[in-house]
Amino acid sequence: MTDPVRYDREGDVAFLTIDNPPVNALGHAVRAGLVAAIERFEADDARIAVVLGDGRLFLGGADISEFGKPPRDPWLPEVVNRIEACTKPVVAAIHGAALGGGLEIALGCHYRVALPGTKLGLPEVTLGILPGAGGTQRTPRLTGIARALDMVTTGAPVTPEEALEMGLIDRVGEGDARAEGLAYATELMEAGAGPRPVGQLPRPAADADAVAATETRLAKTAKGLVAPQHAARAVAASAEHDIEAGLAEERRLFDELMRTPQREGLIHAFFLERKVSNLPEIKGVAPREIAHAGVIGGGTMGAGIATAALLSGLTVTLVERDAAAAETARGTIGKNLAAAVKRGKLSEPKRDAILSEALKTVTDYGALADADLAIEAVFESMDVKKDVFARLDAVMKPGAVLATNTSYLDIDEIAAMTKRPADVIGLHFFSPAHVMKLLEVVVADKTAPEVTATAFALAKRLRKIAVRAGVCDGFIGNRILSHYRGAADRLVLAGASPYQVDLALTEFGFAMGPYAVADLAGLDIGFMTRERKAATRDPRDVVPTWADELYHMGRLGQKTGRGYYLYAEGSRMGEPDPEVEALVSRAREAAGVTPRDFTDAEIVRRYMAAMVNEGARVVDEGIAQRPLDVDAVKLFGYGFPRHRGGPMKWADMEGLEALLIDIRSWEKDDPFFWAPAPLLERLVAENRNFDSLNG
Ligand code: 3HC
Ligand code: NAI
Repeated sequence: MTDPVRYDREGDVAFLTIDNPPVNALGHAVRAGLVAAIERFEADDARIAVVLGDGRLFLGGADISEFGKPPRDPWLPEVVNRIEACTKPVVAAIHGAALGGGLEIALGCHYRVALPGTKLGLPEVTLGILPGAGGTQRTPRLTGIARALDMVTTGAPVTPEEALEMGLIDRVGEGDARAEGLAYATELMEAGAGPRPVGQLPRPAADADAVAATETRLAKTAKGLVAPQHAARAVAASAEHDIEAGLAEERRLFDELMRTPQREGLIHAFFLERKVSNLPEIKGVAPREIAHAGVIGGGTMGAGIATAALLSGLTVTLVERDAAAAETARGTIGKNLAAAVKRGKLSEPKRDAILSEALKTVTDYGALADADLAIEAVFESMDVKKDVFARLDAVMKPGAVLATNTSYLDIDEIAAMTKRPADVIGLHFFSPAHVMKLLEVVVADKTAPEVTATAFALAKRLRKIAVRAGVCDGFIGNRILSHYRGAADRLVLAGASPYQVDLALTEFGFAMGPYAVADLAGLDIGFMTRERKAATRDPRDVVPTWADELYHMGRLGQKTGRGYYLYAEGSRMGEPDPEVEALVSRAREAAGVTPRDFTDAEIVRRYMAAMVNEGARVVDEGIAQRPLDVDAVKLFGYGFPRHRGGPMKWADMEGLEALLIDIRSWEKDDPFFWAPAPLLERLVAENRNFDSLNG
């Protein structure tokens, strides 16, 4: 094993280089190595030290994988204090990123230089904690309370230029971190500079306005989240206490956060985002080159997919049914790109070049002859899709990937239309496709591993989170969705109002409740899905007749100004409508149901249990490979609250046994819907949790 902290000298300058790939996380060996290196520096005759990170960045922060395990000395706060207390000056030469504990190490150093393009940030709140190695006390001593509150409560990084302006660093360097560190250290030596501990600076002035503004902002943007509130409190404490007491207050608040389920959920989300693409079946399999993508159909999804592909630098040929539809699609893409320009994601000249050179909108499939990939996004009809795939098979070059964006249809059947089923795959985007992070990669029976590898490589290029799914009605996400939507409809039939259901779930943390979502998507979508499933529906299933009625009344949701909610002209915020409650009441009477009251907690419990139960079936059947894949789909495609980690993580934290007991108790009244998933029963019998299947 290589030394996690190397020590070497150039003249009077000592270099302490942290070498812990891939991100120089501050695990136990690095912490111990840093303390040993500082002691060695103090003991030898070097006059100044430079702390560096080897590889692509300075320091990625505390080692997150150590959280929840027994702590090992030296703790990170002690390491920072030790550096700060060094009797000779220490410089941090920062490149790439100094995040969390990484920035805190830099703040323990006496001087800081950062290279252009470096990210300097305290992202701890995104993991449900706060900077626990002095970041909440040292940052405001350099920047003042207001800037420190912004950094610590949003977790957003600043650039070196911003950091310089706010006093967080001393200079913006150039070139190589070691050379820059050497030059700066030499200058400091020549100027006779000594140690300059940030912790010894006077405490910052209190700033009641900034604290109040932060509280107001957090009430809107971080509702229900504990960490940002605690982080703000810790920063405010820096103006009230000396450094020792301030650090003690930071530690107290940090320890509290470490024990919250929010911390556990957020850290699960951090790791699963990286683990989902870890698929044994494509390990070492080279993806095919993709430079030119075809998109078939330029409606809601096709235009979004084309936008995402263009923004990633691909050439796109979009095929529509006729010239007018092709022109409409071009217009939608133009609008999407204009929004990207407005958000600063794209320059105007680049936008113009994309529209004039990279995008072609056509009506002739022949234009796809040299495309490397085609993504079909035409109407959700097997006949239409089969026709499109037969045409693609005829014109696409050998080796091209043929993908469908179908939401529900059988991809094996679509693949069978072609002479090359090994090249066919599902790429299920979410609306709006150029915004939503999730991409379900649906691997059909005959899909070649090389094609799956290509889909994952494409997702990375599009900056999407790809999750592998198997073929079934609705794949992972929509299949589970239809089940918990079923739970919501059962709650409404039994006595809860749609508004109470929505409220209980938004309080739980969902961005929207299921009935507000129905209004947003359009009630026609749900109606069509029910129609499609009518022929195969089990007679014991519950049909939300009130939803059918709303559809027949032309109450299609936001687009008609009325659905479950009433929408004032131009508003996306709906008001509850007594007429809908009366309609639901009549549906209960017709079904012979005597309504009863539900607590919000029971609503959440049933909705979540339905999600978990179907999630367990999806895993058991191999549609999702691991419980974490289900979590990823719900987090990145369905507005599941990130701080809860995903439904399967939620279930683990609630306890599977208690959940199974509840499901069995509901099964007595509704055995069709509430039959426990065999996997859930097996795990409880074996005293295991879902995480034990995540590998
Ligand atoms: N601890 C442990 N592992 C980490 C890690 C960390 N802080 N940061 C990244 N990793 C791991 C990832 O899980 C991934 O592992 P894998 O290869 O096995 O999947 C690997 O390092 C590479 O990570 P990325 O794929 O994310 O690499 P990128 O180059 O895309 O991004 C990064 C690098 C910007 C540093 C990004 O990894 C990141 O944002 N990391 C987290 C930073 C962070 O939140 N730091 C604060 C930690 S909490 C803290 O410091 C508490 C303190 O105040 C006491
Ligand atoms: P849409 O109706 O908005 O767009 C479909 C487009 O395909 C239309 O512009 C139509 O002119 C075009 N088209 C139809 N037949 C064609 C053909 N033979 N050749 C070329 N173009 C043709 O539909 P939407 O919503 O974009 O859905 C498309 C597909 O994406 C469907 O399979 C749907 O299930 C799926 N999907 C939809 C999502 C959504 O939220 N709308 C989410 C994920 C997938």
